[in-house]
Amino acid sequence: MMKQRRRPKVFVTREIAADALAELRRGAQVEVWPYPMPPPYAELRHRIREADGALTMVTDRIDAALIAASPRLRGVSNLAVGVDNIDLEAATRAGVAVGHTPGVLTEATADLAFALMLAAARRVALGDRQVRAGKWKTWGPRVLLGPEVFGATLGIVGWGAIGRAMARRAAGFQMRILYVTRSSPRRQREKIDEGAMRVTMNRLLSESDFVSLHVPLTAATRHLIGAAEFRRMKRGAILINTARGGVIDQRALADAVKSGHLGGVGLDVTDPEPIRRGDPLLRLDNVVITPHIGSASYSARERMASIAVGNLLAVFDGKKPPLCANPAVRLRSIKGATCLTVGVRRTRSPTDAR
Ligand code: GLV
Repeated sequence: MMKQRRRPKVFVTREIAADALAELRRGAQVEVWPYPMPPPYAELRHRIREADGALTMVTDRIDAALIAASPRLRGVSNLAVGVDNIDLEAATRAGVAVGHTPGVLTEATADLAFALMLAAARRVALGDRQVRAGKWKTWGPRVLLGPEVFGATLGIVGWGAIGRAMARRAAGFQMRILYVTRSSPRRQREKIDEGAMRVTMNRLLSESDFVSLHVPLTAATRHLIGAAEFRRMKRGAILINTARGGVIDQRALADAVKSGHLGGVGLDVTDPEPIRRGDPLLRLDNVVITPHIGSASYSARERMASIAVGNLLAVFDGKKPPLCANPAVRLRSIKGATCLTVGVRRTRSPTDAR
């Protein structure tokens, strides 16, 4: 006779796509945080303390203290490609596998980066604000002018999946494309397929009309773009960030826009999030800000939820998540909790992780 096993307990920190949640419920006892705002840190810690797994969002801080206080925890599955909200080293040390969702959000995020570039250049959000405020009095030959995107030079910082997807879009606008990457030249040579030129950061900053950021937030990329980098950028250049707010020194950014050196900014991410109400960027007309919606297409979010569930169920099966952010982890073994693997749909393998 089969031994009766305890079903693993999972805390899901926000409502996710119903199909994915149903699949998770087939393999685990699931508690979902039902509110639109994320659980406060103390609540998160309390709910994960007894859990075998957590399905988390970028808004949930999974730090070393939380991991240490959760002796049963074996897997944290982030509904995101970025995992800067999770202390990866602490998780790896504790034998907690961390899953994430690269690939399926690449095109959605590049779409938004491109949209922000067009919006910042051609004053789309400002024009809309003016129309709503009753300020559309007439057509004017000098009203709301901006640079052309078509044929301009685009500098892409980070040549992962999303950076390259941005380049593919830019090629359709006949842009000259420069990029920087930390990967070794040999590895990169095989990947250059978008008619783009690899250059130094200095050259990228000084020659680009638009600079778009596509790097993860790590200790090495925090404040990668600050006062010195803004000085190197062309006067009138436009900066786009759909990566993480912390990649930019935000105070220096406000100064660079206020002084007139930068011509515009398009941000989907800020530091902190949400942006503080008093942040000087909010008073500047040539800044467009969206509330961290890079992956917010219907299909991307559905596929992210399905992958996040698959990542977690794999851990309960004693395997590493198919899309694992800390592949060096040696999984914690905890007696008793396992899920029924029957009927668990496997997620795709990564084709183009960032
Ligand atoms: C969103 O910001 C993500 O990292 O997927």
